Amino acid sequence: MASFHVALLLLTLLGVQLSEATRSLFTSTNDVNSTKWAVLVAGSKGYYNYRHQADVCHAYQILKKGGLKDENIIVFMYDDIASNIMNPRPGVIINSPNGSDVYAGVPKDYTGGYVTVANFYAVLLGNASGLTGGSGKVVASKPGDKIFVFYSDHGSPGLLGMPNLPPLYANDFIEVLKTKNASGTYDEMVIYIESCESGSIFEGLLSDDMNIYVTTASNANESSWGTYCPDMTPPPPPEFHTCLGDLYSISWMENSDVEDLKIETLEQQYSKVKIRTLNNNSEEGSHVMQYGTQGISSQTVSVYQGSGSWNSTSNTIQSLGSMGVVDQRAADLYSMWKTYEKSTGEPQQKIELLKEIKDITTHRAHLDSSVETIKGQLIGEEHGSVSRPEGSVLVDDWECLKSMIRTFETHCGSLTEYGMKHSRTFANMCNNGVTKEAMDEASKATCSSFNMGQWNPATVGYSA
Ligand SMILES: *[C@@H]1O[C@H](CO)[C@@H](O)[C@H](O)[C@H]1NC(C)=O
Ligand SMILES: *[C@@H]1O[C@H](CO)[C@@H](O)[C@H](O)[C@H]1NC(C)=O
Ligand SMILES: *[C@@H]1O[C@H](CO)[C@@H](O)[C@H](O)[C@H]1NC(C)=O
Ligand SMILES: *[C@@H]1O[C@H](CO)[C@@H](O)[C@H](O)[C@H]1NC(C)=O
Ligand SMILES: *[C@@H]1O[C@H](CO)[C@@H](O)[C@H](O)[C@H]1NC(C)=O
Ligand SMILES: *[C@@H]1O[C@H](CO)[C@@H](O)[C@H](O)[C@H]1NC(C)=O
Ligand SMILES: *[C@@H]1O[C@H](CO)[C@@H](O)[C@H](O)[C@H]1NC(C)=O
Repeated sequence: MASFHVALLLLTLLGVQLSEATRSLFTSTNDVNSTKWAVLVAGSKGYYNYRHQADVCHAYQILKKGGLKDENIIVFMYDDIASNIMNPRPGVIINSPNGSDVYAGVPKDYTGGYVTVANFYAVLLGNASGLTGGSGKVVASKPGDKIFVFYSDHGSPGLLGMPNLPPLYANDFIEVLKTKNASGTYDEMVIYIESCESGSIFEGLLSDDMNIYVTTASNANESSWGTYCPDMTPPPPPEFHTCLGDLYSISWMENSDVEDLKIETLEQQYSKVKIRTLNNNSEEGSHVMQYGTQGISSQTVSVYQGSGSWNSTSNTIQSLGSMGVVDQRAADLYSMWKTYEKSTGEPQQKIELLKEIKDITTHRAHLDSSVETIKGQLIGEEHGSVSRPEGSVLVDDWECLKSMIRTFETHCGSLTEYGMKHSRTFANMCNNGVTKEAMDEASKATCSSFNMGQWNPATVGYSA
């Protein structure tokens, strides 16, 4: 058996792709030579986005308890929450109202300015020379290995956020996965993604012959939701003025916390998470989706997350009733407003916070109205936000989409994680043959008198 593995390894080194048949030999072995890897990404920063880093820390604890080794778990988080001046529990992060600390022990592989899409790709591909900063840990996986990826963040049609621009574009991500697939350096991969419109990252893009199975928090055209938010049910402890988690994320993790993962299959976890994320079929829920190689979902969760049954019931609210939630894109303003309302600080601080809320609201209104105007001029209102049929890719020419976004930002200011929501409108401009020149003209005309202030992309960066 050993020499057989060596022979395969040599084949891989020689660049010979492993056939499906050869791969399945590895699948059945599930032996000591199959290493479990994980990549965890929190794609936002700032105290009002507390929940994304809380989700990722919680995921780390599940995998750690499950028996994955730190050398095989790679964490991307900005790491500005635990020691944030606004954190009522310094040094601690929680992911549910009565939850215990999920921050302790989390490896700080890629933090601050190193949480970038370029580093994420280099890590997935095991390309240490492609890294900038950080711990240097990469997914140095072998043909029999299993890989688990969890990403929690803001998103929009075709995009996932990053705390340092640019964001992740779906086509680039899929290309990275194809490169990984072609390298033959894993057996199977499972990807869980929390973000608005997360289905659009895979819809029409991910083929089923890469041994990659995906679930997303939402379909290609709907929000995902923050939860455990102030003054909602269930609420965080009263001293927290920010949301502690996201509905899909806490649903899979609170499930993993209590189930016997050696028995529960990925398909069973998906079904339970789907029901909970529908949020009692209310408007304030989303449709959890599956993409890629469906056959993988018959495996047990333990194959990817390990099984150590954390058994920390205090971290867990297995409620299937309605959860109070807030749209990801409104969650920061909601938290800022709650902070303002409950503030007992200096009047001057309250005045500054109120001004910040007003500035952000004004910028958002400007983004919405200028996109609306430009859309009307270039493709007509009715085409702007229409989705293509299910199963279709968002845009045929991704370079066009990037160019539309960059052109808009040049004249109208940074889209920010809120304004990314207009990416479908920009995509539809490309799909309708709008040229970069026409976009440039329309954006210039619409935004010429606008003062970008703190949202000048020349200082905050471009989204493409
Ligand atoms: C694991 O794989 C290595 C080569 O990658 C080989 O030398 C070793 O004997 C294998 N161990 C087992 C138990 O198959
Ligand atoms: C948290 O614990 C307190 C005290 O035990 C309890 O009253 C409250 O209902 C719990 N909150 C949640 C959301 O479970
Ligand atoms: C690793 O990343 C660098 C920088 O992006 C790139 O030039 C190189 O081709 C990559 N190597 C592999 C093997 O992918
Ligand atoms: C993924 O790899 C397998 C095995 O080498 C190959 O058959 C398949 O075509 C690849 N898929 C893609 C989309 O590149
Ligand atoms: C989990 O902990 C509870 C309370 O401490 C205990 O009753 C239960 O048996 C434990 N479950 C497992 C699977 O260990
Ligand atoms: C679900 O929603 C219905 C109204 O549509 C409501 O009557 C019911 O109480 C809700 N169930 C739970 C468990 O919250
Ligand atoms: C949203 O997407 C789902 C599936 O991806 C589709 O069934 C539905 O029709 C879409 N809704 C709109 C309004 O485009």
